[in-house]
Amino acid sequence: MGLFDRFLPLIKARESVAAGGVDPFSVKMEKVLSPTRAVIDGRETIIAGSNNYLGMTWDESCIEAAIEAVREGGTGTTGSRIANGSYAGHRALEEELAAFLGFDHCMVLTTGYQANLGIISTVAGPKDYLLIDADSHASIYDACRLGSATVIRFKHNDPQDLANRLKRLENDPGNKVVVVEGIYSMLGDTAPLKEIAAVKREYGAYLLVDEAHSLGVLGDEGRGLYERENVKDDVDFVVGTFSKSLGAVGGFCASSSPEFEILRVACRAYMFSASLPPSVIASVRQALKRMQDKSLRANLWRNVDVLYDGLKAQGFSVGHEKSPIVSVDMRDPAIVVAMWQELLRNGVYVNLALPPATPNGMALLRCSVTAAHTRTELEQVVRTFVSVADALDVFGTPRMAASA
Ligand SMILES: Cc1ncc(COP(=O)(O)O)c(C=O)c1O
Repeated sequence: MGLFDRFLPLIKARESVAAGGVDPFSVKMEKVLSPTRAVIDGRETIIAGSNNYLGMTWDESCIEAAIEAVREGGTGTTGSRIANGSYAGHRALEEELAAFLGFDHCMVLTTGYQANLGIISTVAGPKDYLLIDADSHASIYDACRLGSATVIRFKHNDPQDLANRLKRLENDPGNKVVVVEGIYSMLGDTAPLKEIAAVKREYGAYLLVDEAHSLGVLGDEGRGLYERENVKDDVDFVVGTFSKSLGAVGGFCASSSPEFEILRVACRAYMFSASLPPSVIASVRQALKRMQDKSLRANLWRNVDVLYDGLKAQGFSVGHEKSPIVSVDMRDPAIVVAMWQELLRNGVYVNLALPPATPNGMALLRCSVTAAHTRTELEQVVRTFVSVADALDVFGTPRMAASA
């Protein structure tokens, strides 16, 4: 038995997905032209599959801030903050994030994945319980595997199921930490945070909200779902990422727990990984300022209407909640792969999401909208979906049956 033999089923699955000519998992953007356009396979393509919700990757002021920082501070820090020292920018960003989010403390980590991995695996100890939504991101699941707490999954977006599970633990002295996401990355649905907060209060649990996809997107100021639902006082930890609305890379956790700072010498993902380079810190600090411009969010949501309403009107089966993540359920993995490949050949890039990475075994074309898309681009995306689906005779006649 060879080292890689156990990957044979995965190798076969990947080969069958790539059989149509393009491997969806090795697409190369030969040149990125803007937040919404790139050259793929020699063709200018509309990017409708990023997490660039505010189009921040090409914001001129963020680019300038990064260039200046790299000249002033060099290309990297070459080590972790506890071993090799924090730069002034790391501290400044933490203070600015804490102030913006309305929490006393904030810790910046090198990726959003590491933020979940480090914080969740560290805060809950061996006698504690992590209660996680069944549709949680891989970083939350991996954090559970890394940590020592007992892990309990509750049904996706089901506060009653969460309450039932907490009730069974009522006489157990261990701490209970509930983990949910602001916007779920596959279907774009939001957590019922008011109800979840009420359950956490009733059972004296802690609440961690991963606002990876909702920072900059939800709430008047863009703080995320906890702002929109007005439940900040019930939230013990907010985790987020710099890789989506803030257009860079990195992660953070904010909290008002008085002992939070101890995590700097307890959280291994923070302690044993090099800190973010000056250029990233500088662009994120500038992006945080730019993010507070409400017109970006207004553009984003106007664009959501164009894509979501456009696809739905053409009979595509989109998620039940409007969000910058517009996922089309094609039901059949073979069809979804064929659709994805034809969309790309026709100049539209979206994300292919297949089981087991999807909830309920769905076969999804995951589209995402940014504030930077033009109406014309999004209408072009809808037209391409229609022409490709018709060419492949995906729905038979009539196409409207898809939304039934
Ligand atoms: C809900 C959620 N949390 C955390 C992450 C990890 O963030 P990053 O990719 O910035 O490491 C992601 C990434 O997509 C995510 O969807």
